[in-house]
Amino acid sequence: MDRVAHYIEALYAEKKGLNKKEYIDQTALKAFIPVVDDDVARILQLLIMLKRPARILEIGTSIGYSTSSMAKAIQTWDGRITSIEYDERVAAQAQENFRREGVDDVIELVIDDARKALPRLEPQYDLIFQDADKHLYPDLFEECVRLLKPGALFLAEDSLFPVIDLDPKWHDLIPPIERFNKLIAGDERIVSTILPVGDGLTIAIKKAP
Ligand SMILES: C[S@@+](CC[C@H](N)C(=O)[O-])C[C@H]1O[C@@H](n2cnc3c(N)ncnc32)[C@H](O)[C@@H]1O
Repeated sequence: MDRVAHYIEALYAEKKGLNKKEYIDQTALKAFIPVVDDDVARILQLLIMLKRPARILEIGTSIGYSTSSMAKAIQTWDGRITSIEYDERVAAQAQENFRREGVDDVIELVIDDARKALPRLEPQYDLIFQDADKHLYPDLFEECVRLLKPGALFLAEDSLFPVIDLDPKWHDLIPPIERFNKLIAGDERIVSTILPVGDGLTIAIKKAP
């Protein structure tokens, strides 16, 4: 962890509430794709509290750390999260985690490939969080734009993979992220930037037509 990240984490270490280490410690399944860091979880919660979305769509649940973090924020009003995960074992673990955290009543877990699930959804989302397989980011971008309501937020994790010190085993993920970053930066329907939080968090708004 670099000095800046270390400083920030130390500040929040004693704060009550969800934290990644405890969440993972309480998760029986240990073989899962990594989840967001606590700084990303905090910014998701902050943005949700600012925007007060009624409907959130998450693509890529894993064991549900980001889902649970977002659910804690929307629990105070009548918000709902739909989260899509195609790996049945991690989805079952996520569902168990949602019950443990007391957020299962606000989350609908869709166990399916996002490439098949997204076209079936109605364009009703106030916030989409893209965190599935990075190869899919450019391919699913158009579906995400369709599903966002005008003025809705679009967030995508790991968008600074091309410029961070990335483990060589993940290097095949750099070209699709590059394509995604260029697509979104050049899209006239979208206002966006990338926050240097975690491994890069794209933050975007779909403009009103
Ligand atoms: C980075 S993890 C998600 C982490 C989670 N958002 C969190 O921070 O707690 C990505 C997840 O997306 C799932 N995934 C990848 N491709 C998918 C697809 N085509 N459809 C549905 N899920 C997919 C993987 O199985 C994996 O569990």
